[in-house]
Amino acid sequence: MAIRNIRMEGDPILSKVSKEVEEVDDKIKQLVEDMFDTMHKADGLGLAAVQVGILKRVVVIDLYDGTSKFVLINPVITKLEGEKVEFDEGCLSFPNQFVKVERYNNVTVEALDVDGKKIKIEATDILAQCIQHECDHLEGHVFKEKMIPGTLEIITPEDIKK
Ligand code: NI
Repeated sequence: MAIRNIRMEGDPILSKVSKEVEEVDDKIKQLVEDMFDTMHKADGLGLAAVQVGILKRVVVIDLYDGTSKFVLINPVITKLEGEKVEFDEGCLSFPNQFVKVERYNNVTVEALDVDGKKIKIEATDILAQCIQHECDHLEGHVFKEKMIPGTLEIITPEDIKK
């Protein structure tokens, strides 16, 4: 188990474009494992490699429902459809900050899994939201760029305890 350092708001790496993974080798597999460990420890639903300082097109997602756990290497969104829906959204690089973002409710993504096999996921709702959020990270974009103006809320763990 290895926890990596999460890059936070203001770190210039978060606005850089990540590079394609050429080969899903042991180094990438280790990165994926560490990303899951790091994300689980921080109670996140998704994490992009850039958030641990690695500019590679690697994303992990876990919705903690026992089935929605994915590794997306070189993901490409091939379809965005349906209505745009307003989602509440946060990001591990922006702790305690929550905004409302409009995103498509249906998305199809194609990628490689951790074994280098091609996968295709047709996602809706939170999973669709998560995929769009993480793919934005790979392009150097963060959720606050897409927020509906005026919706930023700061919620600290102390607020939740009250
Ligand atoms: Ni994020």
